Amino acid sequence: MFITFEGGEGTGKTTLIEQLKNELTSKGLNVITTREPGGSHVAEKIRKILLDNANTDITKETEALLFAASRAQHLNETIIPNLDKIILCDRYIDSSFAYQAFGRKLGMDFISKINSYALNYLPDITFYIDLDPNLGMKRIKNNRKDKTDRLDLETENFHYEVRKGYLEVAKMFEDRIIVIDGNQTIDAIYKIILENILERI
Ligand code: TYD
Repeated sequence: MFITFEGGEGTGKTTLIEQLKNELTSKGLNVITTREPGGSHVAEKIRKILLDNANTDITKETEALLFAASRAQHLNETIIPNLDKIILCDRYIDSSFAYQAFGRKLGMDFISKINSYALNYLPDITFYIDLDPNLGMKRIKNNRKDKTDRLDLETENFHYEVRKGYLEVAKMFEDRIIVIDGNQTIDAIYKIILENILERI
C-alpha cells in the first residue's frame, strides 16, 4: 500500500511518519519510510541542489524538472519494488502540483506532462495536513532555525498560493486525498491517520 503525506512547512509530517512506522511495525506489518525530493542515492543528490539556499538562480522550469527527475529515480528504485509493503512517503506528486503548478504558476498541464510516469503510480491514499502557512512558518522558526531551506525562504504569498493549490488538488483527487485540519495537536492528527490506515489494511 502506497501512502503519501502532504502539507506546507511545519505541519509535523516527519514526526507523524516516524510514529506511524513504529506502531504499524509493532503490529507485525512490513513498513518502509521514504521521502521526496530524495529517497534514493541519486534522488538525494538532486535534493541537495533543490534545497540549497545558495541556488537562488534556479529557474522555475528547472526546479520543476529536477523535482520530476528526482521522482523518476525514487519511483523506480524505491517505490515500485516495495509496493507489496506499506510505504509511508513524505511528499510526492501533489507537492509538485501545489508548489510548482500553483505556487510557481506553471500550471497543472505542464506539471502533469513532466510527471506523466508518476501519474501511473498514484498513491492509494494521501493525507494532506492543512495549516495556515503563517502558523507553519512560526513553528519552523521555533523548532529548527538551522534547517531553513531554499523553499522555506519563499515569500508569505508563495506559501498562501501553495495552500490554495493543495486545496484545489484535494478537490481534483477527492477519492484519494484526505484533508486533515492541521490546527489540532499532533496526537489528534496521529489518531485520525492511524485509524484510517488500519481500516484499509
Ligand atoms: P523538506 O525539508 O523535505 O520539506 P518539509 O520538511 O517541509 O516536508 O523540503 C522539501 C521542500 O521541497 C518543501 O519546501 C516542499 C518542496 N517540494 C516542491 O516544491 N515540489 C516537490 O515536488 C516536492 C517533492 C517538494
